[in-house]
Amino acid sequence: MHLILVVLSVMSLGANAAYYDVTMMEALVDMRANILIDLLKTTGLDSMFSDLTTNVTLFVPSDRAFTQDLRNLGVTADDLKKDVDKLKMVLTYHVLQGRHLMREFTNEKMMTTASGDQLRFNHYLYNNRYFADGSSLQSSDIETKNGVIHRVSHILFPFQGTVYDIIANDTELSTLKAAIDAAGLADFLRDQNPITIFCPTNSAFSALGDLVPKILADKDLLTAILAYHVIPGSLYRGGLHDTALHTFEEKDRITLDHHGSSFDEVDDARFSKYDISALNGVVHKIEKVLVPASVEAQIKNL
Ligand SMILES: *[C@@H]1O[C@H](CO)[C@@H](O)[C@H](O)[C@H]1NC(C)=O
Ligand SMILES: *[C@@H]1O[C@H](CO)[C@@H](O)[C@H](O)[C@H]1NC(C)=O
Repeated sequence: MHLILVVLSVMSLGANAAYYDVTMMEALVDMRANILIDLLKTTGLDSMFSDLTTNVTLFVPSDRAFTQDLRNLGVTADDLKKDVDKLKMVLTYHVLQGRHLMREFTNEKMMTTASGDQLRFNHYLYNNRYFADGSSLQSSDIETKNGVIHRVSHILFPFQGTVYDIIANDTELSTLKAAIDAAGLADFLRDQNPITIFCPTNSAFSALGDLVPKILADKDLLTAILAYHVIPGSLYRGGLHDTALHTFEEKDRITLDHHGSSFDEVDDARFSKYDISALNGVVHKIEKVLVPASVEAQIKNL
């Protein structure tokens, strides 16, 4: 009987199907979210989605998203099952208590998930798209008897600290960390919220050769350069588009160039890694150090 109802509701409502007559769990089966279902069963969390006494909101990465993301992380679904506590934490990070429709996910909204961690939402006006921790909400507002499902493009992981923590923990960003510490900007990158930082990697700094120690020795110049890499607001990859943006350096603006799905540039630096979510914003890695126009002459004379 259930199967027939599911089939009918899918057929009658098309791609953005509403599943009013079924439970969350039945809708997941119908959506063929097989990897997620398997992981929910492993942790015993599946009962939460059959339970008709509470409503929940669930973000669902498709099987394809799971497979791709796990491959990029170098792990398998079976590896995840070995640490059930951690797996539970990651899965409950995909759950909000109550029914929440997409229109509630306004730009920069933070909500507490069932894992107790904060989840960030973005709604970028230029493309009218919604994101959860930078992961695009694909088909959304799939309503069931006991909750709402939103498909997301990636697995969601709880934040690993502030923007400063992310930088401090990344061996590819150790020169940047040293520069931030020398400029006294560590607290700024812990407390300012929300921000986006474009982080030049160690090899980006190496390309500047013996200019690096000279810049590090000039605190005002160093501060201007570092502040030019930080913009207000959380700007994930899905929100990048051709534009010029004010930075915390204030005098000059950075230029963003979005070359379709192939690559993006900030000034003339390419991105080497996108969308590392932090408690107070988002971190991207870039391949060049950005130099504000107003200090270019000063650097030439160093
Ligand atoms: C869950 O939400 C639906 C739709 O709003 C509502 O009809 C139902 O009573 C809710 N269930 C509970 C247990 O609150
Ligand atoms: C990052 O650094 C912070 C502060 O030093 C530490 O508490 C945290 O465990 C680190 N996180 C990771 C993922 O290494």
